[in-house]
Amino acid sequence: MNITKPRGTNDIFGLDLDNFNHVVNILKIIAKFYNYSEIITPMFEHKELFIRNIGETSDIVTKEFYDFKDKGNREIVLRPEGTVSVIRSVIENKMLSKMPLPLKLYYIGPMFRYERPQNGRSRQFHQFGIENIGIKNVYNQIEILLMSKMVLDLLKIKNYKLKINYIGTFDTRKKWMDDLKNYFTKHIDELSDDSKNRVIKNPLRIFDDKVDSKKNVVKNAPKIDKYLTDEEKNEIDFIKHSLDVLHIEYEFDSTMVRGLDYYFGLVFEYISTSKELSENTIIGGGRYSKLVGELGGQDTDCMGFALGIERLVAAYVAENQNVSSKQLDIYIASFGNTKLNTLNLSDALRKSGFSVDSNLSLDKLDKHFKYASKLNPKKILIFGDKEKDAGIILIKDQDTKKEISIKITELINYLKDNL
Ligand code: HAM
Repeated sequence: MNITKPRGTNDIFGLDLDNFNHVVNILKIIAKFYNYSEIITPMFEHKELFIRNIGETSDIVTKEFYDFKDKGNREIVLRPEGTVSVIRSVIENKMLSKMPLPLKLYYIGPMFRYERPQNGRSRQFHQFGIENIGIKNVYNQIEILLMSKMVLDLLKIKNYKLKINYIGTFDTRKKWMDDLKNYFTKHIDELSDDSKNRVIKNPLRIFDDKVDSKKNVVKNAPKIDKYLTDEEKNEIDFIKHSLDVLHIEYEFDSTMVRGLDYYFGLVFEYISTSKELSENTIIGGGRYSKLVGELGGQDTDCMGFALGIERLVAAYVAENQNVSSKQLDIYIASFGNTKLNTLNLSDALRKSGFSVDSNLSLDKLDKHFKYASKLNPKKILIFGDKEKDAGIILIKDQDTKKEISIKITELINYLKDNL
């Protein structure tokens, strides 16, 4: 029998997992710097949570669900993203009345989308995301952009561009969408089948189509600019001004719409410019306000972002050295009648905080050295009958290759000072 992993999934181990964990640690530190608390929600949810209205047009909801009926005949979806689950949990647990606003939450975990797997795109991937629930003004929005940029700064990732757009309030968007529907209906023959289906349901998504977005018919379609109110225009100007003052480089892309339907106002994406990542979006986010209301709470202004951890790790590795894999502190080369003493010694060393390994089926020093070279320990302890009888142990430093002998009773203190 030869059973392989399901298409679009990954086994993560070894150096890849070292890099993954390093990146996750930095993300958790950033969440702490910004005073966000962690939330863990279920990996599966009721399907109705994601399909709330028939107008729902995003690919994630219409095409990419991993859904099934459970034994109780309930329609279940493996979550495709974290935002909706977090808002559900916030309402269900009455967090908005129990905790001070804005409520700042972050999450880390696997997400599932039935997509065509390719470079940087999997069916199971991991996201780190944050949601700021109850944002009050534009300064909160700028702070979230700063937080997203800190992710790339702390991981020393430089090959990216930040794109921002402003997709207006629902009223503005409605006027724009009505005109777009008329415009695209007139040019329907120039559109792909996918886009034809979107003309009436959500013409905005045509801007997001990989093929059609390159066509003149889409490039020349009405832009949002002429529908914006003075208040919205002032907000955009203030956002642009703030980014300039904070020296954050960005590109204003009036055709960038995000893949989910809940956004309005400011939206943003960080796109990798490393050739290894083939223009993949690493981080995406924006502002949304109707979601809390739609899920049974009071309409609340929110903003957040999420990033694909695998994509972030790929961007990190493309520009940085791999995280050092030199993790093992001590290897004990034990031979002769010292195996039980070695078990006892390893136990004491581990309790003192050192990582220790020892292959107790080997008995020859050269075999131990050959084996240890693959584990890359910082120090090798050599322990045979002669050493045992004399109450000593030999320590070989793997960097300097120097060997010293030390009394067993002094070993732990020595290692504490020298590791
Ligand atoms: P999203 O743009 O759908 O936004 O996903 C965020 C990030 O998840 C992407 O930029 C990408 O790095 C990663 N990602 C998405 N799909 C895949 C895939 N198939 N394989 C690998 N990585 C993938 C959201 O999910 C929103 N919930 C973000 C948000 C939070 N907006 C407001 N708050």
